[in-house]
Amino acid sequence: MKDVLILGIESSCDETAASIVKNGRDILSNVINSQISIHQQFGGVVPEVASRKHIENIAGVVDKAFKDAGLSYSDIDAVAVANAPGLVGALLVGVSFAKGFAYALNKPLLAVNHLHGHIYANFLEHENISFPAICLVVSGGHTSLLYMASRGHLKLIGETRDDAAGEAFDKVARFLGLGYPGGPAIQKAAQQGETGRYKLPRVFLDRNDFEFSFSGLKTAAMNLWRKSERQGNASVYDMAAEFQEALVEVLAEKTIRAAQEYQVHTLLMAGGVAANQRLRNMMKERSKALGLQLYYPALNLCTDNAAMIAGDAHYYYINGRFAPLTLNAYPGLWSL
Ligand code: KG4
Ligand code: ZN
Repeated sequence: MKDVLILGIESSCDETAASIVKNGRDILSNVINSQISIHQQFGGVVPEVASRKHIENIAGVVDKAFKDAGLSYSDIDAVAVANAPGLVGALLVGVSFAKGFAYALNKPLLAVNHLHGHIYANFLEHENISFPAICLVVSGGHTSLLYMASRGHLKLIGETRDDAAGEAFDKVARFLGLGYPGGPAIQKAAQQGETGRYKLPRVFLDRNDFEFSFSGLKTAAMNLWRKSERQGNASVYDMAAEFQEALVEVLAEKTIRAAQEYQVHTLLMAGGVAANQRLRNMMKERSKALGLQLYYPALNLCTDNAAMIAGDAHYYYINGRFAPLTLNAYPGLWSL
């Protein structure tokens, strides 16, 4: 069968990314232009700044993806773009560029849900993932548990009632003066701290469902922090360690419970927070103890990238699920 080469474009938040993936598996190029240093000065992503940076960067990023892959424009078979969910102004840059590119080259356009792309990052690296599976999606905007009957059949079984896990990491890091993005900053600080010195709740662990809540945990952390500052015994390292542990333990425990309740043997993790080392280790230990097969993407494929978009799009390409040139961007769509 002829090789299928897909250009993927990703611009849902603060990374402008383009990648060319062959046959849904071989990453020929994976270019990521991060705006982190720009948003750092504001303590978080400023949507309008993100859109403007995307518009400046996107042509160069796409060109580099072709250059790195050693291909010319006409070599690709389709153009894929993440069109939901995310910051709508940011998404529109990628969507508009992808449409123009596809139109100019007379190639089909493919629309990919960004969260589905995160999940698909697992399939880029592992060929024979067996189903059914439970998937934990943990990013800056989402915290969801999904039951996957097969590659394209996903059912939401629980999600956060308020803040996403990544959002809680980011907000607490900002409060502690650790900077943006908060997840890696808290992970780093936690390495020098000890859990248990501050005592934070494991929210919703007493509930027999797959819902999460991280807003209360964030407030509890802030209150304890202020108290310790007043008492003169504050330690940013210990707070980072306890906060990370409290959050990660709930994620890991609920994911394992879901596997047991749904009687699955495969677990997947996806999204930026799946890069967290403590979460990866805890999930590794617990799934090993129960004989469950655990998958998570390589670190550079956990956080936002376009290889996951181009890879996921392969499935749509072979199924003829093309997008029209009227394609729009949507901030909160969970169309799986
Ligand atoms: O998936 P992602 O790159 O973008 C979204 O789709 O939101 O996720 C970004 C989130 C941020 O909140 C960031 O703080 C978090 O992932 N993150 C981490 C780590 N690396 C990134 N959280 C915890 N530990 C990490 N090592
Ligand atoms: Zn993402």
